[in-house]
Amino acid sequence: MGFLSAFDNWLVFCGKPQLMGLMQTAMDQGLRWQLRTWNKTNPTPLTNANYLPDTEYMIHAFKTHVWKGKKRWIVGNVEKSGFDHPTVKPQYVMVDALQCATNYGQTVLDCYMGTGSTGVACMTLGRKFYGVELECKYFDIACRRIEDAQRQDALFGREDAYVEVEREQLRIEMA
Ligand SMILES: C[S@@+](CC[C@H](N)C(=O)[O-])C[C@H]1O[C@@H](n2cnc3c(N)ncnc32)[C@H](O)[C@@H]1O
Repeated sequence: MGFLSAFDNWLVFCGKPQLMGLMQTAMDQGLRWQLRTWNKTNPTPLTNANYLPDTEYMIHAFKTHVWKGKKRWIVGNVEKSGFDHPTVKPQYVMVDALQCATNYGQTVLDCYMGTGSTGVACMTLGRKFYGVELECKYFDIACRRIEDAQRQDALFGREDAYVEVEREQLRIEMA
């Protein structure tokens, strides 16, 4: 998590074991932080009446608060994504997270882009977006989804909402 020190406004999704370390990182950087949760109403069932954890945490570390997202928790279902990725975030979670962390027109970097839910949310909200993804398969899906969201915005006349995914620049060569 050393690279977080390069930023004074970051948001990390995590489980319980990572919480303390991330809070400490924020405090070491002299940032304020907010703990937010996403409570799933349909956690994955396991055997013997057990379930996978139904709560995911988000640590948002920041210098200046964006007051749009005052609520500290989101409750909702895990949406079926159809994007062939095991941990796609529902769109409403990403929209909510970005609203509490950024203002219109600001730039967002997702270093673990997956299939691009953050980028799609950026299109919806009029943020600029850079994404990095290790797996070519997910990178291509992300580009398609983000470009679709861009086209959607153009269709409805949202010329001011745009995305900047530099396909060639960000593509990581597979060994
Ligand atoms: C939890 S998933 C992100 C899911 C994403 N939020 C979505 O909605 O699809 C994390 C992603 O990070 C990617 N990843 C892991 N290590 C990476 C690295 N060192 N650089 C770039 N991407 C990486 C994985 O391939 C995976 O797709």
